[in-house]
Amino acid sequence: MKAIVYQKFGNTDVLQTIEEPKPSIQSDQVLVKIKVVSINPLDWKIRKGEMKLMSGSKFPKHTGTDFAGIIEETGTSVSGFKKGDEVFGTVKNNMKDGALAEYIAVPTTSVWKKPIHINFAQSASIPTVGAAAVTALQKMGNIHAQTEILVNGATGGFGMFLLQLLKQKQANITAVTSTKAIAFAKKWGADIVVDYTKENILTQNKAYDIVIDLSGKMGYANAKQMMKSKALFLNPTPKPIEIPTSLFKNLFTSKKHIVVLSNPSTENMDILLDAVNNGLQIEVSKVFPFAQSKEAYQYAEQGGYIGKVVIEFN
Ligand SMILES: NC(=O)c1ccc[n+]([C@@H]2O[C@H](COP(=O)([O-])OP(=O)(O)OC[C@H]3O[C@@H](n4cnc5c(N)ncnc54)[C@H](OP(=O)(O)O)[C@@H]3O)[C@@H](O)[C@H]2O)c1
Repeated sequence: MKAIVYQKFGNTDVLQTIEEPKPSIQSDQVLVKIKVVSINPLDWKIRKGEMKLMSGSKFPKHTGTDFAGIIEETGTSVSGFKKGDEVFGTVKNNMKDGALAEYIAVPTTSVWKKPIHINFAQSASIPTVGAAAVTALQKMGNIHAQTEILVNGATGGFGMFLLQLLKQKQANITAVTSTKAIAFAKKWGADIVVDYTKENILTQNKAYDIVIDLSGKMGYANAKQMMKSKALFLNPTPKPIEIPTSLFKNLFTSKKHIVVLSNPSTENMDILLDAVNNGLQIEVSKVFPFAQSKEAYQYAEQGGYIGKVVIEFN
């Protein structure tokens, strides 16, 4: 089967299409014939060597985390899934079991039935960013109509899920986004939209109960200027050192720095599937064929898209 691997860190030039054997499944696994893989910033941050503490430097590495496809084979102890089921899911270690391949073997705890009213591309867009949005919501605690929340970088994959989940809680949302994404931010629930190409949010004279940065560019020191005296800064892109130090520093401040790590658990996926079945919208702004995987990554890495970018197998 075809799979994408790389032998060294770098830009999209290092991506190679290789032939390798179809994976064999263990008793608790299913073999999925991949139809769509969605792109997550995590995929290319690892490939560029930006996460070496976590990724290590062993090669070859596979890539691709979130997928949708059709079950081809089930392990001997698998129940609840059968050959032909349309599913979506995520791989725990994308460097070893990368989803950007014709087939992958995954445990049943990492796949879910595809809702029938959404397509493969939309369902492949759910796991990592959807679960991160649910995790962020849980870290926010009690949210109500008076809770003022700033979502910086609001219309990529993560923001798409987060805005809509926050709207269900009737939160008062300010979204920071680029010009072309303003309409999407409003549609997904933002009460106020700030165009970051025209206005610097840091110079606004307003304070929030919660600030979450999905652009990866703000940082706690900047966010602090926009936080009420008791407030939360949610950070899904922490520097490794911030994971322990934020916990310690939080003991001495009421402006808390909270790290968010996506947890695609069964409970979180149930929350997401419930939201999707109740109308949460999933925008896939561009679909690339497998043969153009490099171009797909180049496009995603440049930014400027709305929702998700995906790669499709014929
Ligand atoms: N910790 C975790 O478990 C976890 C899970 C999922 C994601 N993440 C991280 O969370 C971040 C968001 O994920 P994502 O998938 O939504 O990424 P994404 O699709 O790349 O979205 C990032 C958004 O930030 C916007 N942005 C860029 N520069 C900005 C600026 N100066 N000011 C305001 N907004 C700006 C982008 O808008 P334009 O493209 O229009 O510029 C884009 O909409 C990524 O860094 C990702 O790695 C972490």
